Amino acid sequence: MTDNLTVIDHPLVEHKISLLRDRETKSVVFRALVREIAQLMTYEVTRDLVMTDRNIETPIAPMTARVLASPAPVLVSILRAGNAMLDGVLDLIPTASVAHIGVYRDHDTLEAVEYYFNGPPDIAERYNLIVDPMLATANSSISAISQLKERGVTNLRLASILAAPEGLAALRAAYPDVPVFVGAVDERLDDKGYIIPGLGDAGDRSFGT
Ligand code: PRP
Ligand code: URA
Repeated sequence: MTDNLTVIDHPLVEHKISLLRDRETKSVVFRALVREIAQLMTYEVTRDLVMTDRNIETPIAPMTARVLASPAPVLVSILRAGNAMLDGVLDLIPTASVAHIGVYRDHDTLEAVEYYFNGPPDIAERYNLIVDPMLATANSSISAISQLKERGVTNLRLASILAAPEGLAALRAAYPDVPVFVGAVDERLDDKGYIIPGLGDAGDRSFGT
């Protein structure tokens, strides 16, 4: 980890990202892979979850067991492609609440266009994890972070499967305080803002559009 950035370089993550990149990978497999990668990343991303004590009885003896503290985390999905990652995190944290943020990139300007926000009312007091498989210019992530911060969120981190160096630099300049976890960092952006070599459009590939 450097500069609040953690690259989760693990053979399983790398292998599954390679399968995602393959243009022959169909939507049903693409979504399953995104879900599996999100599960693997969650193991590392959530190391700072707060624990608490609970008195229980095993079949043998009473004990004080460690369990996740309340309230449960809020998983923040950036629509649309965030939803495939969301499913993987929910597999591991089924008690989490979900916030949805609707943001898409204007194809010409690459600026983030905000169209939807729906999250729990106590979001500001809770642990927040933003998920979006792609971090290209970072305009979408920066928009999501700023919308959360406007609502008072301070306990915040972001997980993306694939990032471009340009986006990581922009995010770092805008929000140096937000920990960022990625599965891989690619070479650069092309002149249309796509990650090279990347995997194409994550939303289109997830949902067959
Ligand atoms: C994709 C992706 C990210 C965004 C990343 O969404 O899911 O949200 O692009 O690019 P950025 O870092 O340059 O902002 P897209 O804009 O295609 O929205 P969609 O999935 O709803 O079509
Ligand atoms: N969004 C995507 O889905 N893919 C890219 O390469 C860049 C932004």
